[in-house]
Amino acid sequence: MKESPIILPKRPRRLRTNASIRSLVAETKLSHEDFVLPIFVRRGGGKEEIPGMPGVFWHPLSGLAESLQLYVDAGLRAVLLFAYEEEKSSDMKAAFSENSILARAIAIVKKTKSLNGLYVISDICLCSFSDHGHCGVLQDGRIDNDETLKLLQRQALDHARAGVDMVAPSGMMDGMVAALRKALDEQQFTGTCIMSYTAKYASAFYGPFRGAAGSAMQFGDRRSYQMPITNVKEALREAELDELEGADILMVKPALAYLDIIHSLSMKSHLPIAAYQVSGEYAMIKAAAGMGMLDEEAVVQETLMAIKRSGASFIMSYFALDMLGYLKNS
Ligand code: PBG
Repeated sequence: MKESPIILPKRPRRLRTNASIRSLVAETKLSHEDFVLPIFVRRGGGKEEIPGMPGVFWHPLSGLAESLQLYVDAGLRAVLLFAYEEEKSSDMKAAFSENSILARAIAIVKKTKSLNGLYVISDICLCSFSDHGHCGVLQDGRIDNDETLKLLQRQALDHARAGVDMVAPSGMMDGMVAALRKALDEQQFTGTCIMSYTAKYASAFYGPFRGAAGSAMQFGDRRSYQMPITNVKEALREAELDELEGADILMVKPALAYLDIIHSLSMKSHLPIAAYQVSGEYAMIKAAAGMGMLDEEAVVQETLMAIKRSGASFIMSYFALDMLGYLKNS
């Protein structure tokens, strides 16, 4: 007697038969246009690998254009600039003027013709310049929100004058977007974009960055300004405020441990959502891969895919150059 066949009209595996059909139905794709590379710039010295971040370098101002040219030739479209400033002070004066590291770095990029297509985003924060390592002005042991805003306005204007395309305030001060928008608009920089670190959590994943930016706190922690890791609604509230204040883009950071936040914001907001795969996320993968415990390329692709799938329009990542290489070879 012949056995009757199993009748199963719905077979999801049909769409997984081979690579062609799998890629046709892929809901998320990564492209070279999705990535922004964070760059650490310092005044002098040579190009030097940053301890704790293998494959990431400090770039001296003198070699910046040359390094960036190589990256642009490899397909990089955008950079996020951070300063490593050795001169730290209570008034944080090295953060300002056309002689600040970031204003000079921006000017170098903008004056180099062959780098014309490179989109430049600059960090707006004080932690790399203050002698205490906090992101704002210290008054009687507390961070003074509104005094900090005034300094952030100065810093953003210095960067705008140097020609920056977008400023990215990262200090989680109340009203930082409104303050920057006002300062920029009053000086006719109406075209300078603002990407707000809308939901920046008080995370342990920033460890390696604090060495890279020389921004380790001399005391305390950042929990009076960065967000508590327990909260989602608070991120939605921050998003609402940033929208009202005139942000162009909302950012979530860190990325992999906060995919729910990226997703919630992308469902609730009509603004583009960016995500930052931070230094600790980078270090974790590098360390495990370095010990032969993980396949670096596969894990990098999987984490970045997850970040994009969760709703990010684009991603700040120290793996940006690696990804450009993987995508070329795929
Ligand atoms: C500080 C700042 C931090 C990062 C970007 N800007 C860290 C911090 O809050 O100490 C973290 C980036 C990373 O870990 O890659 N304004």
